[in-house]
Amino acid sequence: MQMPVVEANGVKIPIIGLGTWELRGRTCARVVDAALRRGYRHIDTAEMYDNEREVGDGLRASGIDREEVFVTTKIWPAHFAPRELERAASSSLTRLRLTQVDLLLLHWPNPQVPLSETLDALSKVKRMGLARHIGVSNFTVALVEQAVKLAAEPLVCNQIEMHPLLDQSKVVAACRRHGLAVVAYSPIARGDAANEKMLARIGKAHGKTAAQVSLRFLVQQGVVVIPRTSRVERLAENLAIFDFELSSAEMNEIAGLAHPGGRIVDYTYCGSPQWD
Ligand SMILES: NC(=O)c1ccc[n+]([C@@H]2O[C@H](COP(=O)([O-])OP(=O)(O)OC[C@H]3O[C@@H](n4cnc5c(N)ncnc54)[C@H](OP(=O)(O)O)[C@@H]3O)[C@@H](O)[C@H]2O)c1
Repeated sequence: MQMPVVEANGVKIPIIGLGTWELRGRTCARVVDAALRRGYRHIDTAEMYDNEREVGDGLRASGIDREEVFVTTKIWPAHFAPRELERAASSSLTRLRLTQVDLLLLHWPNPQVPLSETLDALSKVKRMGLARHIGVSNFTVALVEQAVKLAAEPLVCNQIEMHPLLDQSKVVAACRRHGLAVVAYSPIARGDAANEKMLARIGKAHGKTAAQVSLRFLVQQGVVVIPRTSRVERLAENLAIFDFELSSAEMNEIAGLAHPGGRIVDYTYCGSPQWD
């Protein structure tokens, strides 16, 4: 199967990627290798996940050409001062044993360092060839607006928490206004979506699981998803979402699951500003 892509500001991002947070050691290398052998072409890591070395091991073990795989990593906010950012990007590449990542993100906003300085450093790292593309993560509507004005190089995405239990329509609209792809992290709500009765019922009508409905709901909106699993058998399940379509009535019903307490990841983490 040819993996569908989302196009944004000059980049083509495979619409499904493998999330790797909390995958460590040999499990991480094994799951990355297995995912690539099963058709995944996009891997999401971060310096904070402490697994870039094993992601690199999995990549090489798979035997898939480097050019065929879209690799994202992220700079931790403690390293947003310009010199540190450059050093952190180089260290990530050393651990991954790659000369370039496809996408380098600011992991969370950091109000302690002026955004203009951090974006200048990120753009410089791109011009140096360490990253093909750059973007942000956990940016609010206001921060997306600021970032696109300040960035010397195009930003291609905002990676945010997104799943049926959380309404992210405002920040998604801001991303779309500026041509940024939306990458959904925790796309099955860390497993909670897999336990949702409504998603299970809709899935049953299509011969699919609740987790697959959660992923399809996002993909059908043109959102990139990066589900994580430590279980090789679930890799195929999370990829098998291109042979069915949710009706607009089903899409609306699923959107109705969103509620104010639906957010999983604590966004005040790292001193980030409140969401709009
Ligand atoms: N930018 C950021 O700040 C940020 C924050 C959070 C996450 N992320 C990225 O996004 C990725 C995904 O998010 P996440 O790891 O938070 O959550 P997630 O992908 O929504 O959920 C992962 C959990 O769901 C389970 N699961 C996976 N597939 C399943 C299936 N088909 N049926 C039932 N359960 C299933 C997994 O358990 P098993 O392992 O047992 O399958 C795991 O416990 C992360 O790994 C990371 O790469 C980024």
